[in-house]
Amino acid sequence: MPRLKACLHGGDIYGAARELNRDLAEILDFSASINPLGPSSQVWKAIMASRYLLSHYPDPHCWDLRQALATFWRIDPEQIVVGNGSTELIDVLPRALGLHRLLVVQPTFSEYAAAMERAGGQVTALYSDRKDQYAIPIDRLCRLMKTGQSDGLSIDGIVICHPNSPTGQACSADDIARLATIVRRQGLWLVIDEAFADYCPERSVLPQAASWPHVVVLRSMTKFYALPGLRVGYAVATRTVAGRLRRQLPPWSISVMGQIAALAALSDAAHARKSLRFMTGERERLKGLFAALPGCSVLPTYANYFLMELPRGWHARELTGQLRNEGLLVRDCSSVPGCNTRSIRLAVRSPQENDRLIQALSNLLHHEVLQ
Ligand SMILES: Cc1ncc(COP(=O)(O)O)c(C=O)c1O
Repeated sequence: MPRLKACLHGGDIYGAARELNRDLAEILDFSASINPLGPSSQVWKAIMASRYLLSHYPDPHCWDLRQALATFWRIDPEQIVVGNGSTELIDVLPRALGLHRLLVVQPTFSEYAAAMERAGGQVTALYSDRKDQYAIPIDRLCRLMKTGQSDGLSIDGIVICHPNSPTGQACSADDIARLATIVRRQGLWLVIDEAFADYCPERSVLPQAASWPHVVVLRSMTKFYALPGLRVGYAVATRTVAGRLRRQLPPWSISVMGQIAALAALSDAAHARKSLRFMTGERERLKGLFAALPGCSVLPTYANYFLMELPRGWHARELTGQLRNEGLLVRDCSSVPGCNTRSIRLAVRSPQENDRLIQALSNLLHHEVLQ
């Protein structure tokens, strides 16, 4: 298996501001996919009311947050492990589960491979097919699990990003359950990254997967709850597996304000409903506008971003560079294994901001056509 190239993430607005010598507020970041409605107003109130806690260590057990998450999902708080973003939990997975060789479905989020590499493990890739619009190849995975191990595949776990980044694809919760059953029979681990599943709750395997003994489900407070700067994510697993994850985490890794904000965000069901409604409408509108750009194709999505392919003759790096000079950051996916070099990922932001992006894209692409 060839070593995977390290991929940059989206969201480095600080680096862009330094490079462009601009104020952060002048840059529009479409490279990180964060709820454009921002955090719930309850978050601001809770942070203001808790300022006095800054002179204390955070609760190392994240007690209140775990209770709230347990009530939300109707599971036992002992089945929840909170991390400094789900990235921290991805980082400890290889050590906690004893993973040496993980199967990933490319193109996907780069941190699974990076975490395996940091832990001295390896990654085997299965590629989803562009001609199926990168649909998660669930039947192929199930077949591979049934036969692969006896054919010398020798993996000890699989990770499924669901919905997947950068493709936006998801399968049904029943399909994931079918895969989980086969994976269990083979004695393998299954990690399901649901960082974006708040945008398609009907496809989530929570809460039922909480009792599957070989499964870890990852969730993030970064995307839907719009708290990327506070770094809060969590894992759901059986009590035993949750204990294994918890033992790998350093103490106090979730800040006071991270815990306070996540708790407040979770309690605001009205903001969550409004966010979902907004995304459903704006995503549909934007899809039409992207599809109308000359020579571009846009893939269907279950998340708050689109994978778009530029017209033939364009390279994603070139276009992202030109947009960057205009203060618009989009994710260049040309280096993501499995994506072609014309692929970019675009977050859905507010209607005005999205229109600005469409205008900029349209100018660049038309200009090229006219030349
Ligand atoms: C699919 C996926 N999972 C997990 C993460 C990590 O998110 P966080 O550490 O902010 O929870 C990201 C971040 O981009 C992601 O795209």
